[in-house]
Amino acid sequence: MSTLSSSEVLRRTGGRPVKSIIFEAATIAARVEELGAEITEAYPDGDLLVLGLLKGSFIFLSDLVRTIKRPIQVDFLVASSYGEGKVSTGTVRLLYDPETRLEGKHILLVEDIIDTGRTLQRLMALLGGRRPRSLAVCALLDKELATEIRHEVKFVGFRAPPAFLVGYGLDHAENFRHLPFIADLE
Ligand code: IMP
Ligand code: MG
Repeated sequence: MSTLSSSEVLRRTGGRPVKSIIFEAATIAARVEELGAEITEAYPDGDLLVLGLLKGSFIFLSDLVRTIKRPIQVDFLVASSYGEGKVSTGTVRLLYDPETRLEGKHILLVEDIIDTGRTLQRLMALLGGRRPRSLAVCALLDKELATEIRHEVKFVGFRAPPAFLVGYGLDHAENFRHLPFIADLE
């Protein structure tokens, strides 16, 4: 996808400027392709269930699964953590649980961005209790602030700056998810 002009960006944001574009669409696409190859190679056998954490991962997940060249199943998890704020509260609510059986399968949890890692920590504990064959995380962005879950974060797209990012699935109060790039909001 080609780079958008500033008027094309403003059309999409309703006139609200983004501070700067951190990852262009083409940069993201190239990295997602590499992640798909890494994932394909990392799971030579067994059932692989790719679990997308909604809503933030919806664009990343749909691009990522199309770059994985082995059989997979896809399901979703819905957790809620931030509400309308920009700061993590540490409370995670599970609103939708995968219908697919997890037992004996490789589980790859796909997350948009890891900030404090609290969301993932809570989810990993819950999913680990369902006796998967393995449990790992693929995050598009990692602010690298989370220490407790480091070893399970096997696949990372980009190291993220300590800013509030929007686009490519990431929102602020449900806005900006549809931007094809990732931008620093302010
Ligand atoms: P954590 O539990 O603090 O790691 O927060 C993770 C979740 O918070 C992500 O799945 C996002 O939905 C949201 N989040 C964290 N940082 C950002 C950001 O910079 N922009 C948008 N959402 C974010
Ligand atoms: Mg969010």
